[in-house]
This record gives sequence, structure tokens and C-alpha cells, in this order.
Amino acid sequence: MSKDWVPTYDVEQLRHVQLERLRATVANVYAHVPHYRRAFDEAGVTPDDIGSLADLGRLPFTTKEVLRQNYPFGMFAVPREQVNRVHASSGTTGKPTVVGYTAQDLETWADVMARSIWAAGGRPGDVVHVAYGYGLFTGGLGAHYGAERLGCTVVPVSGGMTPRQVQLIVDFEPRVIMVTPSYFLAILDEMEAQGVDPHRTSLEIGIFGAEPWTDEMRREVQRRSSIRAVDIYGLSEVMGPGVSQEAVDTQDGLHVWEDHFYPEVIDPVTHEVLPDGEEGELVFTSLTKQAMPVIRYRTRDLTRLLPGTAYPAFRRMQKVTGRTDDMMIVRGVNVFPTMIEEQILKVEGLTPHYLCVLTRPGNLDELTVRVEAHESVPERSRADLGTRLAGHVKENVGTSVHVEVLAPHSLERSLGKAKRISDER
Ligand code: DLL
Repeated sequence: MSKDWVPTYDVEQLRHVQLERLRATVANVYAHVPHYRRAFDEAGVTPDDIGSLADLGRLPFTTKEVLRQNYPFGMFAVPREQVNRVHASSGTTGKPTVVGYTAQDLETWADVMARSIWAAGGRPGDVVHVAYGYGLFTGGLGAHYGAERLGCTVVPVSGGMTPRQVQLIVDFEPRVIMVTPSYFLAILDEMEAQGVDPHRTSLEIGIFGAEPWTDEMRREVQRRSSIRAVDIYGLSEVMGPGVSQEAVDTQDGLHVWEDHFYPEVIDPVTHEVLPDGEEGELVFTSLTKQAMPVIRYRTRDLTRLLPGTAYPAFRRMQKVTGRTDDMMIVRGVNVFPTMIEEQILKVEGLTPHYLCVLTRPGNLDELTVRVEAHESVPERSRADLGTRLAGHVKENVGTSVHVEVLAPHSLERSLGKAKRISDER
């Protein structure tokens, strides 16, 4: 029996560990990061005020804007010489957000990623195909070092060159693939194009993340292949992938590795902390990070916290529905791309290759869903599928949309995170 990579805590013990680590982190950033010193002073709090986990609520939030203002290295809590690696996430506008890791941080990251792959069902000795992008993006290298730490054979393919991805899967026989769900769809399409039956490859587990995806998408992928698809979540500002992970045995949301990342859910407008079970914006506080700990970092991701199941001490977060920035308001109705994805997958003959296009022809916003039909659908039946999708959206989401059903392969494929919204207003 190999070691279980998920530590067992009882809840009281975990809360104690969290408080000790929180106090150390708060003292560290107050002493070493000018932004935090200023922000704490303005809020009238000092590290000595943190006597319980509830006192976390007295500390100010950190936003992406703050990280931008301190570009590139202003949020580091250690001298730059002690930073072993940087990553960056590219924003839609302006400068990227830079994050740093000490040697110890990289150890911690590899450990939590090994833990995540373990919870996903990966085991030492497995061949792991990593198709997340390598580079400034945290996906590839994060998955890579985690799989190595677990004792796997890593195939560091990165994203792109889809025919070669298929060839390597056929030749190297990986049991696990780590990739964005949207790019896995492109790999599945390519398998079928090459005459490779996805049900007969060696793949048993898909560890999918870096973008929102629905349970309907899980069913679709599990129908088209013999893998079990589990969700992995993370963000550069907090660590990278490996902040929370769905267990393969339960497939019921993601256990947050709370001994390293302390979660809160807040009302994005009033900033009030919400009780477990209520949906709001996810906020994280670093408990063990050295190079660039964050205090109450606002992720903009929407979810709710639920009790632990497979790993009882760790709370779960529900699959992320979307980001506050991806919320489209169509004639007063709040719509996320995942809501559209859910409806698309109810219509047989439509594929999960889709794009939500926002326009404003008059004074009102209009949403057009562009979605590809399956190869088997004759051209004359496409319009009918569009009508059915519009009906489902009207009934279940509550808004009218235009639907354009396109020929297979008309939409651009992404090699990493899929672009789901095109704002043409
Ligand atoms: O996407 C880290 C990652 C890599 C996670 C590989 C999982 C797998 P960033 O590029 O900083 O980091 O983007 C972080 O991506 O705030 C979410 O909006 C979104 N995101 C990440 N994982 C999920 C997921 C990586 N499982 C941002 N479900 C986050 C939904 C996700 N959204």
C-alpha cells in the first residue's frame, strides 16, 4: 500500500493548525509587505488582533488591482533573491499579475498537487499525460511537479499539436490525463478523426480544470470515452492548480486543501461573509505561502462551501458556476456561459463547442449563441436544433437568445482555457 497523500485531521485540530498558520502569515506580511502594512493600518488592525479565525473578517481584502499596482515584485514578502520561480497570469488588459515562490513554496505546491492527483485516483507508477500549457501559466508546471512528487511517469506534452497528443496517448498508454475540459474535447474529436476509439485507449482518469465546466459536460465526456472526469481548481495568485480537488469516488465537488488555503465566501456587493451553503464570491487567505502570501484575495469566482465527504475535515466547494466578470446581463437576466452549456448538452445533435456573442443592436443587449452541430446532423436539420436550444434557454434560464447552429469545426479551438464570450457591443 502506498501512502495516502491526503492528511487526516479532525476538525478541531485543523482549525487549530489554521489559526496558528494564519497568525504567522499575518505577522509576516505586516512586517515585510508595504501594501499590507498600509492597508492594515488604514483598517486599524494589527497582527495582535487576530485571536481567532473569525477575526480574519477584520482584515482588508486583496484584489487583482492591488497586485497590478504592485507590479512586478512589490507584493513579495521575501527578498527577490529568495524567490525560486515566478509565474504570471495574463489579464485581458494591461500588465500580467506576477506571483512568486520560494523553494519551500514549490515543495508545498508539489505536495498539494500530489495530494490532488491522488484524490483524483492517480497512483504512483501511473503514466500521466500533461496537456496543460507549460510556461508562465501555472497549469503545466504545477501538474508536472505534482505528478513527479506522487511518483508517476510524467509526459510533459503541454498544449497544442493535437494529432501528436493522440499519437502519444496511443503509444505511451497514460492512465491519467491532465488538461482543460475544452481542449480534451478537441483531443476526443481528433481521436475520432484518426479512427481511434476513445473507449479503447488506456486513459481512465481526466483531471480537468482552469475553466468552468458543467456536470453535463462531465456526462458528455464520460459517455464519449471511458475516463472518469474530475474537477481541479486553483489560481495563480493563491498557488496555481491544487487549491481544491474533486475526489474520484464521490465526484461531488472539490475538497479545499484548507490546511494551506483558508476559504471564505462573501457577498460580492456588500462584502459580508456568508455562512457555509450560501453562494457568493470565493475568497482565499494563504496559510503557508512564503514568497507571496495573500490575505483575503477576492477570486471573483462564484461558488458555495459545503461539508466534506470523501475527506471529512476539508470543506468542499461546489463546482464554480462562473466568474463575476463573465456574468452577462441579458435583458435583466444574469447569464453565465455554463448555464448555456447545460442547455446545449440537452439537445441531441449539438456539441459543446460554443461561443456566446453579445451585441447591442439598439439599446438592448442581445445574446447570440453560436454552437456547432454534430457531424451526423444534416444541414437542413440545423435550424430545428437552434429552435430547440432557444426554447430550452428561454424555459430554464429565462431569457431569449438567438442561436446560430454552425457546421462542425467552424469555431476556433482553444489549446488551453476556452473563450466562451465574445463581447461585440
Ligand atoms: O487556471 C490554475 C489551474 C491550472 C487550475 C490548471 C486548474 C488546472 P489562473 O490562470 O490564474 O490559474 O486562472 C485562475 O481560472 O480564478 C477561475 O476563474 C478559473 N478556474 C480555474 N480552475 C477552475 C475550475 C489556473 N476547476 C482562474 N473551474 C480561476 C472553474 C476554474 N474555473
